[in-house]
Amino acid sequence: MSHTIIIFGASGDLTSRKLIPALYGMSRKGRLPEATRIVGFARSPFSHDDWRAKLTESTRKFAGGEFDAASWQTFSQSIFYHPGDVGRREDFVELKSLLDKLESGAETTRVYYLAMAPQFYEQAVEQLGAAGLADESRGTRRIVIEKPFGTDLATARHLNEVVHKVFTERQVYRIDHYLGKETVQNVLVLRFANTIFEPIWNRNYIDHVQITVAEEVDVGRRGDYYDKAGVLRDMFQNHLLQLLMITAMEAPVRYKADAVRDEKVKVLQAIRVPTPDEVCRDTLRAQYDGYLKSPGVAPDSQTPTFAVAKLSVENWRWQGVPFYLRSGKAMSCRTTQIVIQFREPPHMLFQSGNHSMHEANRLVVQVQPAEGIQLHFQTKVPDAGMQLRLTDLDFSFQREFHGTMPEAYQRLLLDAMAGDASLFARADEVEAAWGIIDPIIAAWRTTGRPEMLTYEPGLWGPMQAIDWMDAQGRSWFDACPVLDAGHKE
Ligand code: BG6
Repeated sequence: MSHTIIIFGASGDLTSRKLIPALYGMSRKGRLPEATRIVGFARSPFSHDDWRAKLTESTRKFAGGEFDAASWQTFSQSIFYHPGDVGRREDFVELKSLLDKLESGAETTRVYYLAMAPQFYEQAVEQLGAAGLADESRGTRRIVIEKPFGTDLATARHLNEVVHKVFTERQVYRIDHYLGKETVQNVLVLRFANTIFEPIWNRNYIDHVQITVAEEVDVGRRGDYYDKAGVLRDMFQNHLLQLLMITAMEAPVRYKADAVRDEKVKVLQAIRVPTPDEVCRDTLRAQYDGYLKSPGVAPDSQTPTFAVAKLSVENWRWQGVPFYLRSGKAMSCRTTQIVIQFREPPHMLFQSGNHSMHEANRLVVQVQPAEGIQLHFQTKVPDAGMQLRLTDLDFSFQREFHGTMPEAYQRLLLDAMAGDASLFARADEVEAAWGIIDPIIAAWRTTGRPEMLTYEPGLWGPMQAIDWMDAQGRSWFDACPVLDAGHKE
């Protein structure tokens, strides 16, 4: 069956930086189904050839070493463009005629990809419905919706309602590009395709979990968007909670979209929604020095660029095991890691053994950029009596598999075309995630606590975060990943 991907927001950054390079990359690897066309829709008055020419330049830049003129020339022949405005019904009617013509009436799977500014999602969905573009009499119709999906629970619910008036949930693919990352999927494999980890993956052996998404970049030119969002909406509601769900979920009965998502949603349902007092005690918020001077940011902005949230997953597996979620911009390095901190041995036999949490076993999943897994454990230092040292078993994807890691969007686009929604968020999942984040944002606003801290760019957030963790008898695992020579990001 042929496929058509229709990208709304075709002249935007996401399309040129990620979507087209991902589609081209898959076509080069022979993974794109035969007879796949791409149709761009945006307001700019391009012809098919104008858009192709524009994409040639951007893909050359963003596809890195993968670009080659001959294969691009062939690929670009399946790219088309339709100028249109989401506010104009006629433009959707014309789009329909173009699609029908390109597909010559053949049964086709269409994937509508909303890559435009989020304020237009609702209108785009309604127009698709009104123009009969969701109708499935000539093949499957799916819609992919980028993040952010709403800005709080009420808006996410409303958007779900609007979407469900036109598409059934089975047709809807909500993107969280973190789920497209190989290392995130590998957490499922690590846990559920091995026997040795799962028996100790619980409160009996694990003291706590740290999930860190640190970014070296600051808000740059995105101040306008970011100042309204802040780190909780931008990173926690989606990416960090996704990492938490994958780490904490029970084994699904099978690897099928609904079975996987049922288990993920149960994790969110088990998370204790913090009261304002708990928000004051269990969260931190901070801005990096200089944020207030960024373009688009209000000079008295109270938007955090860094936050920590200690969450409790109240179920049999995790009762009493805190999950520390932490993310920020302008930090020391770019790293996303999940740290499973095991308990200390009950009794230290060796005099030189350091009886502290810091020295206990630790499993570190390096999500990016040095993708891999390290298991930290105690070893005897040779020829030094019974002196011990923490050392590690170190698995690196790059060393083991040599090739570069594929872009998250490649996997997600292919799955959307194939109809596999396992790596996409379901309506109830998105709403449950907002249900955890909203009360934190509301408590910060209404109580003004905890106070907004500041930090110097290039650190691991505010210094107070170290004392805060110390006070709980724990410490952050702050290590910038060591990239192998030749490692490409
Ligand atoms: C996006 C956020 O969803 O994720 C950005 O809006 C952030 O602010 C980005 O920089 C991080 O993604 P990645 O894949 O670079 O870790």
